Amino acid sequence: MKTLGIETSCDETAISLIEADGDFDTNFSYRVLGDMTRTQAIHADYGGVFPMMAKREHAENIVPILSAVLKEADITREVANEIPPEIIESVHKLLEREEGLSEKLIKYVSTHEKPEIDTIAVTAGPGLEPALWVGINTAKALSMLWNIPLVSSNHMEGHILISSLSKEAPQKLSFPAISLLISGGHTEIILSEKWMQYKKIGETRDDAVGEAFDKTARLLGFPYPGGPELSRRAAEHRALGAEDSINFPRPMLNTNDLDFSFSGLKTAVRIYLEKNPIQSEDDKNAIAHAFEDAVVEVLVSKVRKALSKNQAKTLIVGGGVSANAPIRTALKELIESEFPETNLMLSAPEQATDNALMIALSGHFHAIKDEHTQPNDIRAEGTRQLS
Ligand code: KG4
Ligand code: ZN
Repeated sequence: MKTLGIETSCDETAISLIEADGDFDTNFSYRVLGDMTRTQAIHADYGGVFPMMAKREHAENIVPILSAVLKEADITREVANEIPPEIIESVHKLLEREEGLSEKLIKYVSTHEKPEIDTIAVTAGPGLEPALWVGINTAKALSMLWNIPLVSSNHMEGHILISSLSKEAPQKLSFPAISLLISGGHTEIILSEKWMQYKKIGETRDDAVGEAFDKTARLLGFPYPGGPELSRRAAEHRALGAEDSINFPRPMLNTNDLDFSFSGLKTAVRIYLEKNPIQSEDDKNAIAHAFEDAVVEVLVSKVRKALSKNQAKTLIVGGGVSANAPIRTALKELIESEFPETNLMLSAPEQATDNALMIALSGHFHAIKDEHTQPNDIRAEGTRQLS
């Protein structure tokens, strides 16, 4: 079974083609035939992602990326391919709000042989709706042009699946499983009693943890997305053997629930900066260090609660912030020292941030259950929940 995944929920335009066999409880295996992620650089100076700018960039880049991925997979070749005029017209209509996209897509499809793909999976949410629509409409157009069924994928499920599948086959996953999802838009704790079944048991009441990283990084003058740079600065400060001398608050550390709050932490950094203006790069690094320590402590504390409350046999950690080295190390230490029977599943750091492989994987597992979606029923769902 070959599945094409398309991801445009935020500022990464990504396409991936996989060949996968089997289901969760039968011998599952997959290989990546082609894969490409392009991160939009235009947001760097703005401190965040503007949906309409992201949409324009996706429309600009998605066909070249599709072309590169199918070429890498060696699954098509250049031939004249006549498209019936009524389909061309429908594609133009479908893509009329995506500037220049329908021309590019029709040019590509009319000069390439139809690839043997079984399913097209596309992220329908959560995410930025104008950005999501580019991927959705491209998927719908390809489905129409090539007559391939569609799956509507949940971005957060993609993050869970790619972490679940990174180390070993999914049949090794034991339940109940707790997933910690930490990204630019989400901070959630999910309980799964079974494979691909999700119940939210904790979430942030305000900012997501990635958002707190990005906003704090912005206060320190780092370009968007600031998480990786902030973490690099914190590491520099630690490497000097410097103590974490600033004590930022640990919001909701000791509450009995599994919820988070990160906006207060960002505010604490802002207030600290008002009282202690930055005088050197080392000052910035010290703040980054203190901020990161506070985040790590809160995440570890809530995960500890979630694991013991639910007697979890597996901890899955996913989302862009799970690329963060101190968070990975702290969670590994938590499992080794306090939950030695629990299995920790982390994706490779480079697969933690948004990509389309995770969407292709989700597409495969839904397609084999025949959970396809009619093209007219797929729409962007900015706040789509896991179910
Ligand atoms: O999952 P993702 O790629 O996109 C969303 O779905 O939001 O996550 C992006 C977030 C950004 O906030 C980025 O700053 C953060 O992940 N991030 C990191 C690191 N790498 C990415 N935060 C802290 N440390 C990192 N190494
Ligand atoms: Zn994400």
